[in-house]
Amino acid sequence: MSKPDLNEKLPLTGNILIVDDKADNLRLLSRMLGQRGYEVRSAISGSAALMAVRALPPDLILLDINMPNMTGYEVCETLKASTQTDAIPIIFLSALSDTADKVKAFQIGGADYITKPFQVEEVLARVENQLTLRQMQLRLEQSNEQLMQEVQQRRQAQDILQRSEAALRQRTEELEAALEELRIAQMQLVQSEKMSSLGQLVAGVAHEINNPINFIHGNLRPARDYAEHLLSLIQIYQRDLPTTPELQTQMDSIDLEFVKQDLPQLLESMQVGIDRIMGIVRSLRTFSRLDEAEIKTVDLHEGIDSTLMILSNRIQQDDRSYGVAVFRHYGTLPPVECFPGQLNQVFMNILTNALDAIEDEQQQCLNEGRSPVAGEIHISTQITDGNQVQIRILDNGPGMSDRVQQRLFDPFFTTKPIGRGTGLGMSISYRIITERHHGTLTCQSTLGRGTEFVITIPLQQSCPQIPSLMGPRGDRCPDQDSA
Ligand SMILES: Nc1ncnc2c1ncn2[C@@H]1O[C@H](COP(=O)(O)OP(=O)(O)OP(=O)(O)O)[C@@H](O)[C@H]1O
Ligand SMILES: [Mg+2]
Repeated sequence: MSKPDLNEKLPLTGNILIVDDKADNLRLLSRMLGQRGYEVRSAISGSAALMAVRALPPDLILLDINMPNMTGYEVCETLKASTQTDAIPIIFLSALSDTADKVKAFQIGGADYITKPFQVEEVLARVENQLTLRQMQLRLEQSNEQLMQEVQQRRQAQDILQRSEAALRQRTEELEAALEELRIAQMQLVQSEKMSSLGQLVAGVAHEINNPINFIHGNLRPARDYAEHLLSLIQIYQRDLPTTPELQTQMDSIDLEFVKQDLPQLLESMQVGIDRIMGIVRSLRTFSRLDEAEIKTVDLHEGIDSTLMILSNRIQQDDRSYGVAVFRHYGTLPPVECFPGQLNQVFMNILTNALDAIEDEQQQCLNEGRSPVAGEIHISTQITDGNQVQIRILDNGPGMSDRVQQRLFDPFFTTKPIGRGTGLGMSISYRIITERHHGTLTCQSTLGRGTEFVITIPLQQSCPQIPSLMGPRGDRCPDQDSA
């Protein structure tokens, strides 16, 4: 908007109302102003003046003070009292030349004051002056209004901009959150697929081994009995029948005396071996219970042992002077209500992390020519508060800095090289313990000394319908995939 030029000469075709009770004065002034091109109207009294103003508000009023019935002052006060007419400039015309009268005229809102008898040029100059002021005032008001409108419009535009900016920001945040959720869901799926594949493999191996092992186990007892019978029979033959040279040669070649002593021991050690293999198969089956979606009441020690069994190739390697030894400090635990496959996943994550940390430190010692410290993992279990079971897993690895501890349970937080760690193990474990089992998972770690994870879960889960880790729709849970 262009700014109004307040000095610009305005067309003075003003509409002027002259108010005087003297007809002569009215005529004189009307002619004088008319000749100058003004539109002039006359009123012979105060009340006539008010009517004329209401009918058509003039641009200027020349107002006599001394009039009968209603003085010029009264007319002025009436006009100034109304917002419709208060802006019309009033020039008082009066024979009163007392200062007090002039002061009063200005006090009640008069714009100017001309003393009678007046000079024509003076009246014209003052009229022109007031009209110019009036026009400038109108123009200022107009431009003010335009400015106000513009400010208002700008404010509205700014408001709209701010609102759309906020909406955009919110939408971006929502999209980012959705993307992050998707990323987590994807990685959880990957982890669950990994666990699921491991579970399937383990379950498959356990199943395949189980049949032949059962077959051997079932036949071993009779085999031992048969061997015993045969040995007794040989004993009788040796005692009661003469030994021929051929028999003697045969007995010498097979070292019969040694076979008689060794065979029962050999069968006994086969029995021990079979029992161990059966134990391993049982552990494999326990570990692979990933398909158990419902709550089960189980022996937690079996779950821990089965997980250790899966990790046994990383525990206490005989061909090294160092290695990692696991110490079990099991308390007496009643059966615990839980999702067994998922708890095994938590044990697996914590134990794998402990093994990784210890092995990395040992490797670093070797690289630097120092002898590595023997690794130790201590697993303790106990009942606390009568209805909670606590599992503590302590390692003597390198420990974690405060910075790592603060982010330990964040999804995707890892200090391991790309390809070795996804950074999901602890975040998933945290959710399994807190959301699935209504328990707590805490970590205490000191740099250079080691780390302890403490799992606490209730012995019984009060609400069996526990929300899926994948979301409210009850989609496939990453931890419930069948093995
Ligand atoms: N016992 C521990 N000792 C030292 N650091 C540990 C231990 N447990 C966890 N951490 C640290 O916490 C980080 C996060 O562990 P988390 O199990 O969540 O992910 P990750 O092991 O790196 O990857 P993955 O998803 O394969 O488990 C690890 O990278 C490691 O730095
Ligand atoms: Mg891990």
